[in-house]
Amino acid sequence: MRNAVPWWLALMVLGCGGDDGDGRCDAPPTFAEDIAPIADAKCITCHAPGAARRGAPLNLNFDTWPAVEPVVETFADAITSGRQPPVGFEPTVTVEERALVSRWRTCGFRE
Ligand code: HEC
Repeated sequence: MRNAVPWWLALMVLGCGGDDGDGRCDAPPTFAEDIAPIADAKCITCHAPGAARRGAPLNLNFDTWPAVEPVVETFADAITSGRQPPVGFEPTVTVEERALVSRWRTCGFRE
C-alpha cells in the first residue's frame, strides 16, 4: 500500500466531517452551559417568578431547568421561530442563538 491513510480512517473523516455544524452531537449543547445564558439575558426579565411579567403567562418560567423542562418544546420553538421576545422588546435573539437552540433540540435537550 502506497497510501499511509487506512481506508477506515478516511471513511471516518469523510463521514463525520471536521466541523461542529447542525445535527452533530458529539459535543451536545446543554441547558446549563449553553441555553441558560440565553434565557437569563433574553427571557427572564418577563419569564421568572417575581419578574415584571408584562403579560407573560404565569406558567412559563425559564429561570431554572426544572421550570423549563416541562415546557421545553414550547420554549425552544418560541426561540427558533423568532416569536419571542415579543416584537418591540430588546435584546432580541440572534441567528447564532437560534441555531444553537436548534442543535440543542436535535441533540435531545440535554440538561
Ligand atoms: C419583555 C417581556 C418578555 C420577554 C423578554 C420574553 N417574553 Fe415570552 N412572552 C411575553 C408575553 C407578554 C407573552 C404573551 C403574549 C405573547 O404570546 O407574545 C409571552 C409568551 C411567551 C410564550 C407563549 C406563547 C408562544 O409564542 O409560544 C413563550 C413560549 C415565550 N413567551 C417564550 C419566551 C422566550 C423563550 C423568551 C426569551 C428568548 C421570551 N419569551 C422573552 C413576554 C416576554
